[in-house]
Order: sequence, then C-alpha cells, then structure tokens
Amino acid sequence: MRDITAWLRGLPAADNPGLAESVVSPTTLQQIKDGTFAYEDDDKPDPGNRPPPTRPTESLALGRHLALTSCSECHGRDLNGWGPDDPTPSLVVAKAYTPEQFVRLMRTGEISTGGKSKTGFMSEVAAYRFSVLTDAEIEALKQYLDSR
Ligand code: HEC
Repeated sequence: MRDITAWLRGLPAADNPGLAESVVSPTTLQQIKDGTFAYEDDDKPDPGNRPPPTRPTESLALGRHLALTSCSECHGRDLNGWGPDDPTPSLVVAKAYTPEQFVRLMRTGEISTGGKSKTGFMSEVAAYRFSVLTDAEIEALKQYLDSR
C-alpha cells in the first residue's frame, strides 16, 4: 500500500477538468481522520491473512486470491458482507448462480434472475471491473466461492 501510494504521489500533476469530485463526503473524510469511521477496523491489516508473494496458479487458490483482492472491498474482508444494515450481501449468494449465470454477471453485470442488481451498483462494478477477468479466472472464482 505504501509503495502504491508513493508511486501515485510521484506522478506529475495533470489537468483533468472532467474528473468527477471524490465520492468521499466531508463527513466520511472527517470520520476517517478521527478514526471513528465505522469500517475502520476492516481497513486494518489482518495478521492471519498474508497475501501470497506470487499469484497462485492452482484454481482454488487463485479463486480465493481473486475473491480476497477483488470482492472483499465491498463484500467484507471475510466475504460475508457487513451485516443486516448494509446492502452488500455475503458472497454465499454466488452459490445460487449456475456457472453460466456467474460468467454473465462478471462479464455484463446481469444478475441470475435477469436485469441489473438491486441498486445497480454490483452490475456497474462487474461491467467496468470484472469484465476483464479471463474465463479461467471467473471459473476459479466460482470454484472458490462454491467451496466456502
Ligand atoms: C464496489 C463494490 C463491490 C465489489 C468490489 C463487488 N461487489 Fe458484488 N455486490 C455489491 C453490491 C452493493 C451488491 C448488492 C446488489 C446491489 O445493490 O448492486 C452486490 C451483490 C453481489 C451478488 C448478488 C447479485 C444478485 O442480486 O444476484 C453477487 C453474486 C456478487 N455481488 C458477486 C461479487 C463478486 C464475485 C465480486 C468480486 C469478483 C464482487 N461481487 C465485488 C458490490 C460489490
């Protein structure tokens, strides 16, 4: 994280008048500064969870790696969601997807029952982030999520 931050800060300033304002509200920003932000604990390193030094090649391990690096941001570090007050579900929901439906969700954002996800957020995220996953990566992800 430190290396990535340092690299980003080292980039030259660029004019980008079309860039949208940050979605982090002043209230959230203040909470992050005060250490009172509700998800703060989940942003701290988890001593029991060391990322592998290199990307795993075995399918199940790769699926776990992808889930923990790509889904945990919203579905929680343990992939079990944030509890009843948060709209992001536990990723046990992925088990209800057939492999074909899961591929379609990752590639296009269309949920198993057709159309967009409840708030549209997951559909949007899948379409702009996960559509770049390879067939093997999607298969590995599904294999891992089914195994939990
Ligand atoms: C930036 C936030 C975000 C990320 C990252 C994210 N999700 Fe989601 N996901 C959501 C939200 C929010 C929902 C609840 C539906 C909605 O409101 O869009 C959801 C719902 C889902 C659902 C249930 C959809 C349904 O209604 O049938 C599945 C399956 C799912 N996500 C899989 C994944 C997988 C797999 C990953 C990682 C590869 C992932 N998500 C990463 C935000 C995210």
